[in-house]
Amino acid sequence: MNPSHLILLIVGLFVGVLCTLLTLNIVGAGKRYPVAVMTVLDANLDRLREDLLAERCDASRSMARLTRLQATSREIEPAFASLEAQSASFRELRLGFIRELDAAGANPAADCVTLNTQATAISQSCEACHVEYR
Ligand code: HEC
Repeated sequence: MNPSHLILLIVGLFVGVLCTLLTLNIVGAGKRYPVAVMTVLDANLDRLREDLLAERCDASRSMARLTRLQATSREIEPAFASLEAQSASFRELRLGFIRELDAAGANPAADCVTLNTQATAISQSCEACHVEYR
């Protein structure tokens, strides 16, 4: 093989690998924000469930959990901007989820039965969106 062809081949391979890595990085960066929001929601719902299991169900504790869930729920809109723009049903599911959290926040559970009802309702509205969009 002509040595200059070999050099061209190596340069070509190198550029190809570089472009692939750049593309993967761009695609990955686009997913990081939505996945981060969902991971934080998941962690906070887990903590609510841990409180239930340990029967720690006082109102100030419930409120602290709910406040974090509420704050994170407001990140769904910017994190899923393209779904928001494409789908009225996604927006509706997000608003339903926020309504569920606000209802619980307006009446923070002071006992485990109420906390259980609220946690179940919240997790059902997570699922309602996941069934269609996850
Ligand atoms: C309005 C829609 C919507 C709501 C409400 C919602 N999610 Fe999600 N969730 C999604 C979508 C869409 C994905 C897929 C994200 C992706 O892979 O880019 C997802 C993915 C996830 C993931 C997987 C993340 C990963 O590692 O890839 C977890 C965990 C999760 N959601 C937890 C929750 C929890 C917990 C709640 C409620 C407290 C919730 N979600 C509420 C839409 C929603």
